[in-house]
Amino acid sequence: MDTKKNIIISVDGTAASGKGTLSQKIATTLGFAYMDTGALYRAVAYEILQSGNDPENEENALQGTKDLINKIASANSLSDILHNPALRKEEIGEAASKIASQNNVRKCLIDIQRNFAKNPGKAYSGAVLDGRDIGTIICPEASVKLFITAGSEIRAQRRTKELQSKGLDVTYDAVLKDMRARDTRDANRQLAPMKPAKDAIVLDTSNLGQDEMLKKALQIIEGKLSTL
Ligand code: DC
Repeated sequence: MDTKKNIIISVDGTAASGKGTLSQKIATTLGFAYMDTGALYRAVAYEILQSGNDPENEENALQGTKDLINKIASANSLSDILHNPALRKEEIGEAASKIASQNNVRKCLIDIQRNFAKNPGKAYSGAVLDGRDIGTIICPEASVKLFITAGSEIRAQRRTKELQSKGLDVTYDAVLKDMRARDTRDANRQLAPMKPAKDAIVLDTSNLGQDEMLKKALQIIEGKLSTL
């Protein structure tokens, strides 16, 4: 393996499939940088809702995207913006899914993601990006592509537990309904729909705990990297 090569690992998948936690763990284990690209879409949605605007209005959505890009340009750390706990709310995820179907929004966010993947920083020998279109559109050259999913009921159970543990008043039925609506919107939009890349390995995590998930993913990654 050429150790000077910057390695990119894409981890796409459905909402609450565990792809975020898995990606962070992969990045920590391998000493790679990590970007949660869903947080970029969430941050745009947050800008729009904070301004009292409608995320489904294309002009509002574009303005929100430009506002975020300006904020990132003047911020010391992109990580602080993407780790804002307010981004994790269900209504922000819903609005993020709505703005994510708009061409102008997606186009404006491409460079941030590609630049991060190609230049993760001197301390890192690669980058892990998770999202919906990383293996298909953002980094089709990724060395390893994973697509993470699980049954919708299991994902809704996991998400309900997570939200309730944060003190949020949510029900399983409502979470399941929103999650299915979001998956349908993300998978059926015309632009960069959520789908596994042709060369992605699909990992169903329905019956896997977090440690098993990581073990499986690392086996796949090591197998792929050993052929480079
Ligand atoms: O991964 P997440 O749930 O935080 O993502 C929120 C929304 O952002 C998701 O419903 C669709 C959109 N998204 C996208 O379209 N492309 C990405 N690469 C990441 C997220």
